[in-house]
Amino acid sequence: RTGIIRIPVVVHVIWHTAAENISDAQIHSQIDVLNADFRRLNADAGSVPSAFAGVAADARIEFALAVRGPGCAVTTGITRTETSVTGWTRNQTGMLSAAGGGHDPWDVTKYLNVWVCNYTDGLLGKGSFPGMPNQGVRCHYRAFGSTGTLSAPYDLGRTMVHEVGHYLNLNHIWGDDGSLCSGTDNVDDTPNQADEHYGTPTFPQVSCSNGPDGDMFMNYMDYTDDAGMFMFTAGQSARMDATLHTARTGLLA
Ligand code: ARG
Ligand code: ZN
Ligand code: CA
Repeated sequence: RTGIIRIPVVVHVIWHTAAENISDAQIHSQIDVLNADFRRLNADAGSVPSAFAGVAADARIEFALAVRGPGCAVTTGITRTETSVTGWTRNQTGMLSAAGGGHDPWDVTKYLNVWVCNYTDGLLGKGSFPGMPNQGVRCHYRAFGSTGTLSAPYDLGRTMVHEVGHYLNLNHIWGDDGSLCSGTDNVDDTPNQADEHYGTPTFPQVSCSNGPDGDMFMNYMDYTDDAGMFMFTAGQSARMDATLHTARTGLLA
Protein backbone atom coordinates (compact mmCIF):
# COMPACT_ATOMS: atom_id res chain seq x y z
CA ARG A 1 0.00 0.00 0.00
CA THR A 2 1.34 3.38 -0.96
CA GLY A 3 -1.47 5.56 0.41
CA ILE A 4 -2.04 6.62 3.98
CA ILE A 5 -4.98 5.24 5.95
CA ARG A 6 -6.52 7.69 8.41
CA ILE A 7 -8.52 6.19 11.28
CA PRO A 8 -11.29 8.27 12.92
CA VAL A 9 -11.04 8.25 16.71
CA VAL A 10 -13.48 9.08 19.49
CA VAL A 11 -12.06 9.55 22.98
CA HIS A 12 -14.45 8.92 25.88
CA VAL A 13 -13.11 10.56 29.05
CA ILE A 14 -14.69 8.83 32.07
CA TRP A 15 -13.87 10.85 35.17
CA HIS A 16 -14.59 10.97 38.88
CA THR A 17 -11.99 13.45 40.15
CA ALA A 18 -11.14 16.68 38.33
CA ALA A 19 -7.67 15.32 37.53
CA GLU A 20 -9.20 12.40 35.66
CA ASN A 21 -11.07 14.84 33.42
CA ILE A 22 -7.95 15.34 31.31
CA SER A 23 -7.57 18.39 29.11
CA ASP A 24 -8.18 18.62 25.40
CA ALA A 25 -4.46 19.37 25.11
CA GLN A 26 -3.60 16.04 26.74
CA ILE A 27 -5.91 14.25 24.31
CA HIS A 28 -4.42 16.05 21.33
CA SER A 29 -0.93 15.12 22.52
CA GLN A 30 -1.92 11.44 22.38
CA ILE A 31 -3.19 11.76 18.81
CA ASP A 32 0.12 13.45 17.94
CA VAL A 33 2.13 10.57 19.44
CA LEU A 34 0.10 8.01 17.49
CA ASN A 35 0.68 9.97 14.30
CA ALA A 36 4.40 10.20 14.92
CA ASP A 37 4.93 6.58 15.90
CA PHE A 38 2.75 4.95 13.22
CA ARG A 39 4.47 7.08 10.56
CA ARG A 40 7.98 6.52 11.94
CA LEU A 41 8.24 10.25 12.51
CA ASN A 42 9.01 9.81 16.22
CA ALA A 43 11.99 11.83 17.44
CA ASP A 44 13.67 8.67 18.80
CA ALA A 45 13.36 6.64 15.55
CA GLY A 46 17.10 7.03 15.14
CA SER A 47 17.73 5.10 18.37
CA VAL A 48 16.89 1.79 16.68
CA PRO A 49 20.08 -0.34 16.72
CA SER A 50 21.60 -0.65 13.25
CA ALA A 51 20.99 -4.41 13.36
CA PHE A 52 17.23 -3.71 13.27
CA ALA A 53 17.15 -0.47 11.29
CA GLY A 54 16.51 -2.34 8.04
CA VAL A 55 13.15 -3.67 9.20
CA ALA A 56 11.94 -0.55 11.05
CA ALA A 57 8.87 0.65 9.20
CA ASP A 58 6.48 3.49 8.56
CA ALA A 59 3.08 1.80 9.04
CA ARG A 60 1.39 4.51 6.93
CA ILE A 61 -1.52 4.82 9.36
CA GLU A 62 -2.70 8.13 10.80
CA PHE A 63 -5.31 9.02 13.40
CA ALA A 64 -7.70 11.94 13.67
CA LEU A 65 -10.35 12.83 16.22
CA ALA A 66 -13.70 12.34 14.54
CA VAL A 67 -15.26 15.46 13.03
CA ARG A 68 -18.69 13.86 12.57
CA GLY A 69 -20.43 11.85 15.27
CA PRO A 70 -23.10 9.19 14.96
CA GLY A 71 -25.94 10.74 12.96
CA CYS A 72 -23.45 13.06 11.29
CA ALA A 73 -23.51 15.83 13.90
CA VAL A 74 -20.38 17.99 14.11
CA THR A 75 -18.19 16.81 16.98
CA THR A 76 -14.85 17.38 18.68
CA GLY A 77 -14.32 13.61 18.77
CA ILE A 78 -14.27 13.82 22.58
CA THR A 79 -17.00 12.82 25.04
CA ARG A 80 -16.79 13.58 28.76
CA THR A 81 -18.71 11.60 31.36
CA GLU A 82 -18.68 12.18 35.11
CA THR A 83 -18.99 8.87 36.94
CA SER A 84 -19.58 7.86 40.53
CA VAL A 85 -17.11 5.03 40.06
CA THR A 86 -13.81 5.92 41.75
CA GLY A 87 -11.69 3.45 39.79
CA TRP A 88 -11.58 0.27 37.76
CA THR A 89 -9.59 -2.95 37.59
CA ARG A 90 -8.39 -4.77 34.50
CA ASN A 91 -11.35 -7.06 33.87
CA GLN A 92 -14.05 -4.52 34.59
CA THR A 93 -16.03 -3.15 31.67
CA GLY A 94 -18.29 -0.55 33.29
CA MET A 95 -16.51 2.32 31.58
CA LEU A 96 -17.67 0.93 28.24
CA SER A 97 -21.35 1.65 28.80
CA ALA A 98 -23.59 4.33 30.24
CA ALA A 99 -25.32 1.63 32.27
CA GLY A 100 -22.00 0.65 33.83
CA GLY A 101 -21.01 4.19 34.79
CA GLY A 102 -19.19 5.03 31.56
CA HIS A 103 -20.12 5.91 28.00
CA ASP A 104 -21.53 3.72 25.23
CA PRO A 105 -19.28 3.27 22.20
CA TRP A 106 -19.92 4.98 18.94
CA ASP A 107 -20.30 2.50 16.05
CA VAL A 108 -17.31 0.25 16.68
CA THR A 109 -17.03 -0.62 13.01
CA LYS A 110 -16.59 3.01 11.98
CA TYR A 111 -14.61 4.59 14.83
CA LEU A 112 -11.68 3.60 16.98
CA ASN A 113 -13.33 4.00 20.38
CA VAL A 114 -10.96 4.95 23.20
CA TRP A 115 -11.95 5.09 26.86
CA VAL A 116 -9.69 7.03 29.23
CA CYS A 117 -10.29 6.19 32.87
CA ASN A 118 -8.75 5.58 36.28
CA TYR A 119 -7.31 2.10 36.71
CA THR A 120 -6.40 1.26 40.29
CA ASP A 121 -4.66 -2.11 39.78
CA GLY A 122 -1.61 -0.95 37.85
CA LEU A 123 -3.09 -1.62 34.43
CA LEU A 124 -1.92 0.91 31.88
CA GLY A 125 -4.20 -0.05 29.08
CA LYS A 126 -6.01 -2.70 27.16
CA GLY A 127 -6.67 -3.13 23.44
CA SER A 128 -9.12 -5.57 21.88
CA PHE A 129 -8.03 -7.87 19.07
CA PRO A 130 -10.39 -8.05 16.07
CA GLY A 131 -13.37 -10.26 16.83
CA MET A 132 -13.08 -9.96 20.59
CA PRO A 133 -15.87 -8.41 22.65
CA ASN A 134 -15.67 -4.78 23.78
CA GLN A 135 -14.08 -3.42 20.64
CA GLY A 136 -11.73 -0.49 21.17
CA VAL A 137 -8.95 0.58 23.48
CA ARG A 138 -8.91 1.59 27.14
CA CYS A 139 -6.15 3.60 28.78
CA HIS A 140 -5.24 4.88 32.21
CA TYR A 141 -5.58 8.67 32.28
CA ARG A 142 -2.03 8.99 33.67
CA ALA A 143 -0.56 7.06 30.74
CA PHE A 144 -2.49 8.88 28.03
CA GLY A 145 -0.68 11.42 25.86
CA SER A 146 2.60 13.18 26.44
CA THR A 147 1.52 16.37 28.18
CA GLY A 148 -0.78 16.89 31.16
CA THR A 149 -1.49 14.57 34.11
CA LEU A 150 1.00 11.74 33.61
CA SER A 151 3.10 9.26 35.56
CA ALA A 152 6.66 8.48 34.50
CA PRO A 153 7.93 6.19 33.03
CA TYR A 154 4.71 5.78 31.02
CA ASP A 155 4.41 9.42 30.11
CA LEU A 156 5.24 9.50 26.41
CA GLY A 157 1.97 8.14 25.01
CA ARG A 158 3.34 4.72 24.10
CA THR A 159 0.71 2.75 26.02
CA MET A 160 -1.80 3.76 23.36
CA VAL A 161 0.64 2.90 20.56
CA HIS A 162 0.97 -0.59 22.06
CA GLU A 163 -2.79 -1.02 22.60
CA VAL A 164 -3.69 0.22 19.12
CA GLY A 165 -1.15 -2.35 17.89
CA HIS A 166 -3.28 -5.05 19.57
CA TYR A 167 -6.44 -3.47 18.14
CA LEU A 168 -4.85 -3.90 14.68
CA ASN A 169 -4.06 -7.55 15.51
CA LEU A 170 -0.43 -7.33 16.64
CA ASN A 171 0.67 -9.84 19.26
CA HIS A 172 3.24 -9.29 21.97
CA ILE A 173 6.67 -9.63 20.46
CA TRP A 174 7.71 -12.44 22.81
CA GLY A 175 4.78 -14.65 21.79
CA ASP A 176 3.22 -14.87 25.26
CA ASP A 177 4.65 -18.32 26.01
CA GLY A 178 6.43 -17.56 29.26
CA SER A 179 10.09 -18.13 28.41
CA LEU A 180 9.58 -21.26 26.31
CA CYS A 181 10.78 -19.84 22.95
CA SER A 182 7.96 -21.78 21.27
CA GLY A 183 5.45 -18.95 20.96
CA THR A 184 5.23 -16.59 18.03
CA ASP A 185 3.97 -13.11 17.30
CA ASN A 186 3.03 -14.30 13.80
CA VAL A 187 5.47 -11.85 12.26
CA ASP A 188 8.58 -13.01 10.41
CA ASP A 189 10.91 -10.06 10.79
CA THR A 190 10.90 -9.95 14.59
CA PRO A 191 13.37 -12.27 16.36
CA ASN A 192 12.08 -15.15 18.43
CA GLN A 193 12.18 -13.81 21.98
CA ALA A 194 11.77 -15.55 25.32
CA ASP A 195 10.01 -13.01 27.52
CA GLU A 196 9.00 -9.40 27.86
CA HIS A 197 11.39 -6.64 28.94
CA TYR A 198 10.85 -3.78 31.35
CA GLY A 199 12.65 -0.51 31.94
CA THR A 200 15.18 0.60 29.34
CA PRO A 201 17.36 -2.43 28.51
CA THR A 202 20.77 -2.09 26.88
CA PHE A 203 21.37 -3.69 23.49
CA PRO A 204 21.79 -6.61 22.94
CA GLN A 205 19.59 -8.92 25.05
CA VAL A 206 20.01 -12.45 23.76
CA SER A 207 17.39 -15.19 24.31
CA CYS A 208 16.06 -18.19 22.37
CA SER A 209 19.42 -18.53 20.54
CA ASN A 210 18.72 -15.25 18.73
CA GLY A 211 22.22 -13.82 19.01
CA PRO A 212 24.13 -11.77 18.21
CA ASP A 213 21.44 -9.13 17.83
CA GLY A 214 19.03 -10.67 20.32
CA ASP A 215 15.56 -9.50 21.29
CA MET A 216 13.87 -6.55 19.62
CA PHE A 217 12.96 -5.11 23.01
CA MET A 218 12.67 -1.60 21.57
CA ASN A 219 9.56 -2.67 19.64
CA TYR A 220 6.24 -1.07 20.64
CA MET A 221 4.87 -4.56 21.30
CA ASP A 222 7.29 -5.26 24.16
CA TYR A 223 6.76 -3.98 27.73
CA THR A 224 9.63 -1.52 28.22
CA ASP A 225 9.26 2.02 29.55
CA ASP A 226 7.77 4.46 27.08
CA ALA A 227 11.28 5.84 26.49
CA GLY A 228 12.51 2.35 25.61
CA MET A 229 10.15 1.55 22.71
CA PHE A 230 10.38 3.25 19.34
CA MET A 231 9.72 0.94 16.37
CA PHE A 232 7.30 -1.25 14.44
CA THR A 233 8.65 -3.60 11.75
CA ALA A 234 7.65 -4.00 8.11
CA GLY A 235 6.10 -7.36 9.02
CA GLN A 236 4.01 -5.80 11.77
CA SER A 237 2.98 -3.04 9.39
CA ALA A 238 1.84 -5.63 6.84
CA ARG A 239 -0.15 -7.47 9.52
CA MET A 240 -1.91 -4.24 10.56
CA ASP A 241 -2.59 -3.43 6.92
CA ALA A 242 -4.13 -6.87 6.36
CA THR A 243 -6.35 -6.29 9.40
CA LEU A 244 -7.55 -2.96 8.08
CA HIS A 245 -8.52 -4.63 4.80
CA THR A 246 -10.37 -7.54 6.44
CA ALA A 247 -11.69 -7.28 10.00
CA ARG A 248 -11.65 -3.48 10.15
CA THR A 249 -12.72 -2.30 6.70
CA GLY A 250 -15.40 -0.11 8.28
CA LEU A 251 -12.68 2.26 9.45
CA LEU A 252 -11.65 2.93 5.85
CA ALA A 253 -14.96 4.46 4.75
N1 ARG B 1 -1.23 -3.61 28.54
C1 ARG B 1 0.06 -3.26 29.06
C2 ARG B 1 -0.05 -3.06 30.57
O1 ARG B 1 -0.98 -2.43 31.03
C3 ARG B 1 0.59 -2.01 28.40
C4 ARG B 1 2.04 -1.86 28.45
C5 ARG B 1 2.44 -0.58 27.74
N2 ARG B 1 3.82 -0.24 27.92
C6 ARG B 1 4.26 1.02 27.94
N3 ARG B 1 5.54 1.27 28.03
N4 ARG B 1 3.47 2.03 27.90
O2 ARG B 1 0.78 -3.52 31.32
ZN1 ZN C 1 -0.04 -5.79 25.33
CA1 CA D 1 8.56 -13.29 15.53
